[in-house]
Order: sequence, then C-alpha cells, then structure tokens
Amino acid sequence: MSGTSSSLGAIPPILLVGCGRMGGAMLSGWREQGLAPSYAVDPSPAAASFAGPDMTVVADMARVPAGFAPAAVVLAVKPQNAAATLPAYQRFAVGSVFLSIMAGRTIDGMAALLGTRAPIVRAMPNTPAAVRQGVTVACPSATVTRPQRDLCDRLLQAIGAVAWVDQEGLLDPVTAVSGSGPAYVFLLAELMEKAAIEQGIPAELARLLARRTVSGSGALLAASPEDASALRVAVTSPGGTTAAALSVMMAPEAWPRTVSEAIAAATRRSRELAG
Ligand SMILES: NC(=O)c1ccc[n+]([C@@H]2O[C@H](COP(=O)([O-])OP(=O)(O)OC[C@H]3O[C@@H](n4cnc5c(N)ncnc54)[C@H](OP(=O)(O)O)[C@@H]3O)[C@@H](O)[C@H]2O)c1
Repeated sequence: MSGTSSSLGAIPPILLVGCGRMGGAMLSGWREQGLAPSYAVDPSPAAASFAGPDMTVVADMARVPAGFAPAAVVLAVKPQNAAATLPAYQRFAVGSVFLSIMAGRTIDGMAALLGTRAPIVRAMPNTPAAVRQGVTVACPSATVTRPQRDLCDRLLQAIGAVAWVDQEGLLDPVTAVSGSGPAYVFLLAELMEKAAIEQGIPAELARLLARRTVSGSGALLAASPEDASALRVAVTSPGGTTAAALSVMMAPEAWPRTVSEAIAAATRRSRELAG
C-alpha cells in the first residue's frame, strides 16, 4: 500500500479524458505536485473551469494536437461512454499507459477498444478522493511496464492511498467494500440522525451529532495504529450504554450478517455489470 504523500515529484504530461468529479479531483491533486503542460478532453461546459497554464481543456479528441505525447491517458468518463469514447485514443497505445478509473470496465473489454497491446491499468477509487482521502485498488495488464505502473501509482496517490493487485477478479469485492463503501458510512450517519430525533434530540443537534461522530471517528481511526475492534472495545465499558447498543448491533443476525450479505450482494452485482 502506498500512502498519500505531499511530495510525489512533478507529474509528466497527461491526457485526461473526462474531467468531472473524479477526473477533476485527480487533476487538483496532480497540480499540487506540479503538472507538466497537459490536455483534458471533456465536452461539458463545466470542464472549462479546470483550464489553466498547465491544462488545456478541449471539447473533443480531434482538438488535441497530433504531436502531443502524454505519459498517461487517464480514462475518467462514465463506463457507459467507454465504447463510444475509447477507440479514438488507440494511437496512444504506443508510448502511453492507459489508466482507467471506470467502474466495471475490464482490462479485456478496454483492450478490445484500445488495441490488444495497449498497456492498461484498471483502478477502482472511491469518493473521499474529493478530499484526498480516497483509497484506490489498481490492477495492471500484462503489457504495463514497471515505470508505467510507478507513474500510475503516483497519479492515484494524488487522491489518497493506493494498493495493487495482480488478480483482476478482486476488483469486484474491492468495489463492494471501498468503492461503494462510502455510501454505507453515509447511511450510518443518516440512521443515527433519525434515531437521535426519535430520542427527542432537536433535528439540528441530531444532524451535528451524527455527522461529527461519523467523521470524527473516521479521523480517529485514520490517526490510530490500532484495529477498529480495539478502538471499539476502548469505548465500551461492561454494562454501560455503549455495551447496551452493541448487544443489539452485534447480535449474529444483526450487523455481522447484514454487512456480510450486503457486501456479497454488491460483489455479485459488480460481476454482473463487468464488461
Ligand atoms: N464518483 C464515484 O464514486 C466513482 C468511484 C469509483 C469510480 N468512478 C468512476 O469514475 C468515472 C467518472 O465518474 P465521475 O463521478 O467523475 O463522473 P462525472 O462527474 O459524470 O464525469 C465524467 C465527465 O466525462 C465527460 N464526458 C462524457 N463523455 C465524454 C467523452 N466522450 N470524452 C470526454 N469526456 C466525456 C462528462 O461530460 P457530461 O457531463 O457532459 O456528460 C463528465 O464531465 C466513472 O467511470 C466512474 O465509474 C466513480
């Protein structure tokens, strides 16, 4: 696992395809490292706001100069746009590595659109990337060289921690755990807020308590070398209030089964959607 680093070294020229939430978050991170003059392709008028001395934003691929030679082509369009978008980028298969963050688009599926010899890294980030607190799992195709893998690692570290796997199939459970995972944590905040209101806490205070408890606990977990279970035990006095709540949540048919079944369902869905 490579951690977020404040100094990763300058980023070489990049061609960013799709400059929305995720692409924009990555670009912001690269800029902090110093980004060589690069191009972004995105037809959305909103993407123009990302233009700057280091980044020319164009509406379509035809406006990228023929001589532009990016070190990496970062694919950050929606998965459903892959088939219509990727073939135009085939010419970069010699000299560039493709880094895809598209959910569910397999290496073989992308190779069918980019050319079978294209070096492709398939990665699954998550939304805390927006605040550089994401976690990404990446998998390289057999054609990716060590320097290309190292470059992709640096590009992904700009939005958080990075782990690599050689088995692409692991990206389905990874998607279920960390890709979809922020939604589970937000659901916890929602349900705590609702339960607080049920116990008579005014709505505004309930919202504050739920949000700060989830975000503060996340920050404490991030700052602590201890396991989550050790942190849980540390706030649980025998016979106390936390123990009363946990006896409900930790009953085998409650959270242990629910979380396990939920992640299994998301893994199955990820496999169904892959292509
Ligand atoms: N957000 C997440 O939680 C998350 C997590 C993991 C992975 N991902 C992956 O990240 C990718 C991007 O997601 P996002 O949330 O950043 O989506 P997004 O905000 O919709 O960004 C995608 C951008 O691509 C633009 N676009 C559409 N067609 C294009 C084309 N042919 N060439 C270049 N740009 C084009 C879109 O413009 P228009 O709006 O005009 O269509 C939009 O600005 C997706 O593949 C997603 O699976 C997202």
